[in-house]
Amino acid sequence: METVIQGVLAGADEAIGHTPLIELRRMCAGMDGMVLAKCEFLSPGGSKKDRIARQMIDDAEASGLLSPGSTVVEVTSGNTGCGLAIVCAVRGYRFVCVMSKAASLERVRMMRILGAEVLLVDQAPESPPGQVGRRDLELVEQAAADYCRAHDAVRVDQFHWESNRRAHYLGTGREIWEQADGAIDAFVEFVGTGGTFAGVSAALKERTPEIRCYIVEPQSASYFGCHEYLGPHRIAGGGYARELDLIDHSMVEDYIPVNDEAAIQTARQLAAKEGLVVGTSSGANVAAALDLLRGRERGSRIAVVLTDTGLKYLSTPLFDV
Ligand SMILES: Cc1ncc(COP(=O)(O)O)c(C=O)c1O
Repeated sequence: METVIQGVLAGADEAIGHTPLIELRRMCAGMDGMVLAKCEFLSPGGSKKDRIARQMIDDAEASGLLSPGSTVVEVTSGNTGCGLAIVCAVRGYRFVCVMSKAASLERVRMMRILGAEVLLVDQAPESPPGQVGRRDLELVEQAAADYCRAHDAVRVDQFHWESNRRAHYLGTGREIWEQADGAIDAFVEFVGTGGTFAGVSAALKERTPEIRCYIVEPQSASYFGCHEYLGPHRIAGGGYARELDLIDHSMVEDYIPVNDEAAIQTARQLAAKEGLVVGTSSGANVAAALDLLRGRERGSRIAVVLTDTGLKYLSTPLFDV
């Protein structure tokens, strides 16, 4: 018989969510307003994507798509893969993760130690090594579709499944609002699939419709803001310059471009000043929030997500300090 001890969780999947919200007082010193950072990098898999991994598996189980022994396949730059590897390990599914060779070594090794199989797909000839471009993503999608056909595997799809948005609507967004006691004026978020932006914005606006929600994009792939795709960038996890089904653009106040240098420098400052070791997209979120505080959001309380742990970037230029 299962024993249940109060306060003890039954598995790593239950440790996902309920992350702290920290005010970035040192980064904002002397400024009018504040930035509140949702510390998703503290999740078991080191990112906010653990939330959507659990929600996608929950939903696939509920709809009968998964049964004991099923194989789960997903395309991922690494974070969703880590989350799925954790949830699949705990619940007894085989997990195959398809990713571009541009992804960092730490991500690949982390998934392998979690028992996942990693299928690495060559980058497009025109892509610089280590930077995932639009064409690289297409190649990875194709490889995943081929694998599913050949192996009768279940493809979970973070770009199209409503589970992605719902995880952040029920979890991240609601938690931010409750932790801040509703004291939020704006939300700023770098988009990959758009699931976090969509879910958090919906949860916040449902409670306070005046909250302004901004999308952050790499300057060189300012697809929604400027309809531009000038080339690859160094902000991992998004900026794919493609349409995103999960996003309702009527929720978007504006689109904020951030360049690679600002994202990287801000991530380094978050470590050195705030003791928060996070990745470049977290740096991009905070860089955009600080820009807004200096300008049209002066005096506001801006919520951001610290998406993933910087330890996933040890081998990248982020750590060349
Ligand atoms: C490091 C990182 N930042 C940002 C994002 C974008 O999040 P979303 O897909 O919810 O838009 C991702 C998504 O994979 C990510 O891995």
